[in-house]
Amino acid sequence: MAADTWWRDGVLYQIYPRSFADSDGDGIGDLRGILARLDHLEWLGIDGIWLNPTMPSPNEDWGYDVSDYCGVHPDLGTMEDLDALVAAAGKRGMRVLLDLVPNHTSDRHAWFVDALSGREAQHRDYYVWADPAPGGGPPNNWESNFGGSAWTLHEPTGQYYLNNFLPSQPDLNWWNEAVRDAFDEMLRFWFARGIAGFRIDVCHAIVKDRELRDDPAVTAEDHPELRRRSLKHVFSMNRPEVHDVLRRWRALADSDDPPKILVGETYVLDLDQLIPYYGQGEDELHLAFNFLFVHAPFDAGALSAVVAGVEEKLPEVAWPVYTGSNHDAGRLATRWADGDERRARVALMMLLTLRGTPFLYYGDEIGMPEVPQDAETALDPVARRTGDPSDNRDVCRTPMQWSDEPGGGFTTAEAKPWLPIGDLAACNVEAQRADRGSVLHLVRDLIALRRDEPALRSSSYEPLATPDGAWAWRRGERFAVALNLSGADVTVDGVDGRVAIATNRVRDGETVGGAIELGPYEGVMVERRT
Ligand code: NOJ
Repeated sequence: MAADTWWRDGVLYQIYPRSFADSDGDGIGDLRGILARLDHLEWLGIDGIWLNPTMPSPNEDWGYDVSDYCGVHPDLGTMEDLDALVAAAGKRGMRVLLDLVPNHTSDRHAWFVDALSGREAQHRDYYVWADPAPGGGPPNNWESNFGGSAWTLHEPTGQYYLNNFLPSQPDLNWWNEAVRDAFDEMLRFWFARGIAGFRIDVCHAIVKDRELRDDPAVTAEDHPELRRRSLKHVFSMNRPEVHDVLRRWRALADSDDPPKILVGETYVLDLDQLIPYYGQGEDELHLAFNFLFVHAPFDAGALSAVVAGVEEKLPEVAWPVYTGSNHDAGRLATRWADGDERRARVALMMLLTLRGTPFLYYGDEIGMPEVPQDAETALDPVARRTGDPSDNRDVCRTPMQWSDEPGGGFTTAEAKPWLPIGDLAACNVEAQRADRGSVLHLVRDLIALRRDEPALRSSSYEPLATPDGAWAWRRGERFAVALNLSGADVTVDGVDGRVAIATNRVRDGETVGGAIELGPYEGVMVERRT
């Protein structure tokens, strides 16, 4: 795999470090645990790993409230452990991306502690402060993503500070050149430690409207996910000036040897807003996560429409990225597949055969489902604030299911895992490794085929005409993918050759002569004979 295009050619894998593998029996996953499980990732064929936050944090939002940008959270290990993980992964040809959280810090970060000490404090202007509105109350109508006003009054100094998430996550002021310089230094610090780049948290949000204008109300035309709130983030996020910061970081990443990559959590639910995050010819993000795809229903028409939009509008130099699961949006085995293994298989075939970089979330490779939990006992601050079980992100952050022994191979039999472990007998790595027909082997075989066949990495996506419920496309001259995302039988025409991989593995090797019949939720990758 070419060194400079590894992130286009490869398959990336997201690890939630607290939940992957616990090396010291405290019930919390850690960096040494990940190191000990690199065998699995290498066997699977993974090229890069994105680690959810690893930096010191009071964990009000599980690491997304950083109190020291140049350290390692003691729950997860030490800087030496991180160095050892990066080195060991590198030896196996896997790169490591860290999570960068530039929109906000923890309220316990030294900058914020200083900022609270008075209006003249050295770091006061590192954060977004504003006087109360005339007549009192918050400076404008901005809403926190986690509910309620985005402003918190600091009584001793008489001003409000901005928090687009929790009050304990004050937003940084990206109009301040000192903040930009501090982050440049931080990027260099981590690049020098050998990490391959960053996933950038709420990347589209960091620069706020300088005049703090009110956000407008959502309208009936807005995406359903946006309509969950009453306001649209027009002035509180997604400002044009964010692109200056991304260009600055891209220049830093490009100037490093080897160049580093930037993957953005670009949570904009409009393709025309997403595309500019790739910049003007390779000068901003390498990959901009597509949340239209993540949030699309499991429906051939809806998913193919998102991909058609990307194919039509994304400039040639920009590269698509697709994922079906993450630590916020939930797991594909539940959200898209609703517990039906056939649907999970077809979703995984889709992810691994589209034109673009696939990101798997730990557990996707075994079709690991979410683990239902109550909102009252949630560790997720969002569910605790709203009391709504559907807001509880704990359900998709539960420990990796390695085996069916007590502790699930995640932790010891005696330890209490930090979140409950799911149904081990129903789903675990060890059992699936022993079963050639398993979801795990399907994923591994799809990745291996992608590695072997340049056409599956870089050739074009050409959709084929299909009946309702089906979706099919060609990748180059030799390969065609045909998926049935419905519960009825369908016939897809224009496909011939031999089934290289089928979601229903008994169909592997089947000869296809111009049309293929697919049962409910069945998918095939067909190779044309030359
Ligand atoms: C996006 C992260 O993915 C999410 O987990 C977090 O709560 C918010 N950003 C705030 O940092």
